[in-house]
Amino acid sequence: MPNFNHPPIAQHQSPPSIKWDKYLINGELKTWNGPVERVYSPMGKVDQEGRVDRVFLGEAPTLDESVGLEALGAAKQAYNNGRGFWPTASATQRIECMERFLELMALKREEVSTLLMWEIAKNKSASYKEFDRTIDYIRDTIDEYKELQRRGSHIASKGGVISQVRRGPLGVVLCLGPYNYPLNETFCLLIPSVLMGNTIVFKPAKYGVLLLTPLMEAFQEAFPPGVLNVVFGRGRTLAGPIMKTGDVDVLALIGNSKSSNALASQHPKPNRLRQVLGLEAKNPAIVFEDANLNKAIKECVAGALSFNGQRCTALKLIFVHKNISADFVRRFSDAVDELKLDHPENNSDLTPLPEANKAEYMDEYVLDAKEKGASVMNKRAGKVNETAYFPAVLFPVNKHMRIFHEEQFGPVVPIVEYDKLEEVMDAIAESDHGQQCSVFSEKESTISYAVDNLVNQVCRVNINTSCQRGPDYLPFTGRKDSAVATLSVHDALRSFSIRTVVAAGTDQKNLVRDIVSSGQSNWMTTDYLL
Ligand code: G3H
Repeated sequence: MPNFNHPPIAQHQSPPSIKWDKYLINGELKTWNGPVERVYSPMGKVDQEGRVDRVFLGEAPTLDESVGLEALGAAKQAYNNGRGFWPTASATQRIECMERFLELMALKREEVSTLLMWEIAKNKSASYKEFDRTIDYIRDTIDEYKELQRRGSHIASKGGVISQVRRGPLGVVLCLGPYNYPLNETFCLLIPSVLMGNTIVFKPAKYGVLLLTPLMEAFQEAFPPGVLNVVFGRGRTLAGPIMKTGDVDVLALIGNSKSSNALASQHPKPNRLRQVLGLEAKNPAIVFEDANLNKAIKECVAGALSFNGQRCTALKLIFVHKNISADFVRRFSDAVDELKLDHPENNSDLTPLPEANKAEYMDEYVLDAKEKGASVMNKRAGKVNETAYFPAVLFPVNKHMRIFHEEQFGPVVPIVEYDKLEEVMDAIAESDHGQQCSVFSEKESTISYAVDNLVNQVCRVNINTSCQRGPDYLPFTGRKDSAVATLSVHDALRSFSIRTVVAAGTDQKNLVRDIVSSGQSNWMTTDYLL
């Protein structure tokens, strides 16, 4: 039953609906006359029973298998076994296309950010930030790509061998982005893979689809036909059959390991398939007894509940030492109850949830934990209406509860009381996840011990601060089920490419020199990119 103690979520004028019926294949924006998916916002008028009359935002095509395969065909043709225009284009040509895209994309800031707010209920400042961060990411990637090319322009002569080493593309990339960062995380895959000379079939996530439509003409105008093909519809209908052909060289996916494993297992030639994956996580926070509680509480609230906890980097399990747990839990629960849940246009801390039945799903975690001995510690917890859920703080959580192991990806915060640090270390070691963790203490010796014992369990240890992906120059990856390959401005270019050597004996010196000075090869060039 909805909790009516909450103030009603504000209503705002919605953006005009978008009836999108196009998809991009081989440089052509084709029209779809078949079934469509109607897109609704998580926001809308709420009735007495807490049902939400979700605002209609528009529709997008539900393409069929044959269109998915047509998109794959276009990407395959553009790649042409590494001999197509794009994989053999010079660095300057690729950069020109990317800069043109950047120019066109920058014009769509308002439209894309507004749709981000309305489709996935990301609050206003975070929506604009996602857009701006993506623009910066593209700029920085172009700079890093230039640097990579400069390094590849070097010709060495050593051990009787003249050699040049560059990074080459891998082939056809199937790219599937997540709903929580439908622009930024998707583009962190798309941009480096395109720039390295791969060709792409891209399918947006289930939620956060319309926000990509303002960019479709920019994709079409900036890149040569077949380089970037965009299809809309269900993963099962489109991605599965594409994978079964064996023509995909890279699976680039941000999501969960269940989907990536299911897809990858359909590829008939597993050694041909590279994977670049950002997957689920269960980042723990450890609050030591010598922590600064004000700081720890502030960071843990933000770390667990920014964007309602729908971040792969969110703090999803908080371990607190028993000597301070009572104080921590009380103050943490009060701080959570201070958060504002409202319409994203109001830039509130918490917003409605875009996924269907998410509130019920959160309640299942709470129920399971309560049955096994935990209590809900804050006053305002629970379902507010069909699409909104005020965060529940659960304490004391133990390993028999589902919330201890599973990624909640939403507004439920489990707190575990510990006595000996080894209990926490064991839990982290036994976990299937290994992305990041946060440690809270003011003491040099505590932090030193924690860092040394955690760095080989996770891929980033955050000291007195919550977990996060940024800044984007830092490597973003994980152990176990949390990731495959590394992303960052620097690393993603490497993840989507392979080192390739052209070599000759020193007796070929004159031939090599003539090739380079004639400028006939795009690859064997020593041109220094400015
Ligand atoms: O969903 C996972 C994102 O990569 C998290 O990024 O730490 O910048 O929110 P963030």
